[in-house]
Amino acid sequence: MLLWEETLFKNRELFELDHLPEHFLHREAQMSGLKFCIRPALQGARPVNALCLGPPGTGKTTAIFKLFEEIEAHSSKVVPVYVNCQMDYTRYAVFYQLYKKLFGHSPPPSGISFKRIFEKIARQSAEKSQVLVVALDDVNYLFHEREVDHVLYSLLRAHETFPGARMGVIAVLSEPSLRYVFDPRVTSVFQAEEIAFPLYTREEIRDILGRRVKLGFYSGVVSDEVLDLAVDYSEKSGDLRVGIDLLKRSGLSAEKRASKSIFAEDVHGSYQRSRLIHLTYALKSLKEDELKVLRLASEHESCRAGELFSLFHEETGAGYTRFHEILNKLDAIRLINTDFSGAGKRGRSRIVKVRYEPDEILSRIRPPA
Ligand SMILES: Nc1ncnc2c1ncn2[C@@H]1O[C@H](COP(=O)(O)OP(=O)(O)O)[C@@H](O)[C@H]1O
Ligand SMILES: [Mg+2]
Repeated sequence: MLLWEETLFKNRELFELDHLPEHFLHREAQMSGLKFCIRPALQGARPVNALCLGPPGTGKTTAIFKLFEEIEAHSSKVVPVYVNCQMDYTRYAVFYQLYKKLFGHSPPPSGISFKRIFEKIARQSAEKSQVLVVALDDVNYLFHEREVDHVLYSLLRAHETFPGARMGVIAVLSEPSLRYVFDPRVTSVFQAEEIAFPLYTREEIRDILGRRVKLGFYSGVVSDEVLDLAVDYSEKSGDLRVGIDLLKRSGLSAEKRASKSIFAEDVHGSYQRSRLIHLTYALKSLKEDELKVLRLASEHESCRAGELFSLFHEETGAGYTRFHEILNKLDAIRLINTDFSGAGKRGRSRIVKVRYEPDEILSRIRPPA
């Protein structure tokens, strides 16, 4: 029996998804690819741009953090700036982060224009001979209204207006199937080295999860059989995050039973929640009207876009342009699918389908106030 004040976790922190692992296994090729891109920056030149591509949970964000850790330890002339585009999804927000990192404080609150922020950043880079390396993580969140074109264009042509300004971009994209076509003026400056993050193999997953278990749980808590089960589920979902979250929940579930070790039932029982971590994460980024469209799409399975718009318009009075934007965003973050399927009565029409069980979505979003 586990006493009430006892725990199975040696270090529970290790199972939080924002924990930066000390050992970053099986990503040597990707790390050296990234370092190759950064090398010119360490010598004061503009870095090679990079595009990291791979499904969720393949270590892309971790690779950026590891790289930036090293840059900060080695150079004060290279300034790495991490931007999570899910949080900062407009060009203004992106440059706001750049400004903060470069100057150590926020831009003046009294409505400073994008142009002014940009000029200050570019001038600082030129005058202080600082090379900016900007990571745009989950860059698909900038695809709406072509924000990404503006961001890349500004960053990568800064030296034309501010000679001496040096900036490079590492873009990260989780959905290779998202076909975004950059503006031709961007394509001519954003010639990125592609770095692929393939799914981990079963052996690699076992290695990575095994390491976490060893560091995070007391010995004897996780048997080989239980570890294999977590590896199975992690492999099945294709996302390492699911495996890590599953280990945490299984540990908590065993503690709840006052058991000194995790049983297979703990793992099976926890999987139902762990497999939905994407959904939970994606929902956090939605605004009220976006949640409304998602709710309507969940309530009316496989609905035509036109019908969905009527429902949305009835509830909110909003116009088609906004509706269209929302559909594109929900599609970009993989909450819905909008395919032109088959011929409708009035020609081809888009069919909107949610990518989860409608109830799984509905139970997570509150009804409209
Ligand atoms: N090679 C690895 N070794 C150890 N932990 C890893 C590795 N790859 C990913 N992780 C862990 O898996 C989770 C997801 O990784 P992350 O870098 O966020 O993936 P992505 O950005 O590709 O979606 C994180 O909690 C991270 O610590
Ligand atoms: Mg990531």
